Amino acid sequence: MAGSNAPVGVFDSGVGGLTVAREIMRQLPEERIVYFGDTARLPYGTKSRNTVIRFSRQIVRFLMTKEVKAIVIACNTATAFALEEIQRELRIPVIGVIDAAARVAVSVTGNNRIGVVGTTATIGSGMYEKALKQYNEKVKVYGKACPLLVSLAEEGWLHDTITEEVVSRYLKDLRYKSIDTLILGCTHYPLLRSTFRKIAGEDVTLVNPAYEVAMELGELLKTRGLSCGRDVGGAGEKYEFFVSDAAEKFCEFANSILPFDIEQVKQINIEDFEAEGRDAFREG
Ligand code: DGL
Repeated sequence: MAGSNAPVGVFDSGVGGLTVAREIMRQLPEERIVYFGDTARLPYGTKSRNTVIRFSRQIVRFLMTKEVKAIVIACNTATAFALEEIQRELRIPVIGVIDAAARVAVSVTGNNRIGVVGTTATIGSGMYEKALKQYNEKVKVYGKACPLLVSLAEEGWLHDTITEEVVSRYLKDLRYKSIDTLILGCTHYPLLRSTFRKIAGEDVTLVNPAYEVAMELGELLKTRGLSCGRDVGGAGEKYEFFVSDAAEKFCEFANSILPFDIEQVKQINIEDFEAEGRDAFREG
């Protein structure tokens, strides 16, 4: 079993999970992180549950080779489809992003009318509605799938009139629902936060779960006696980045949103980590 000086594994389908990773780096600066972005197979949001579970299992298997002590699924789609499976199959703690977002949204809404934007898969899974109602059964939940936004974020069109137009079209229906809270239910969307703010207006509270996810991770590590006791040095030593394709593009993007420059992003063949069954990563 990995000890407290082991890294935390964080994964997403691409760069979106970096919005969660950078918050973990900020709140828990002594923790080491191994990040994996599945850039070869993005987007996850248009794929089936079984495919996302298979991809997630392969990534988990890869992260276990890095002897991670905990895993953060920094992807709403993978959380919606694979979190419960992965939690059942692993002995180390695994957290996702949906529960944290639901908790925050329920605590900030004044009129119990909450909008959720996310991928087609996340919205279709109904997992947000389930999580929100578990905290307050009176809330009314309005979901909207926004499939084009992942490509715009990956393309780096974060402040662009085309992105504004697309967000505006997607939010059109939600405008008539009198929501006072909008969950950015895809880890790519916080990159488009200023556009969401402009289109949704000042009266709608935008919820980005990254802050709570990092807090939840910190508390979980502390409870399990897994918090890293010592800072192991600079970003170059503490953080490792892996992708399944286009390492250079990932590196460029990451350097534009992280507070330091990444020196190296390694490309791996994630299909090599096919799990042979549910016990394949039990030894972790
Ligand atoms: N970042 C993923 C999420 O939070 C979405 C990107 C994708 O569709 O792969 O759902």
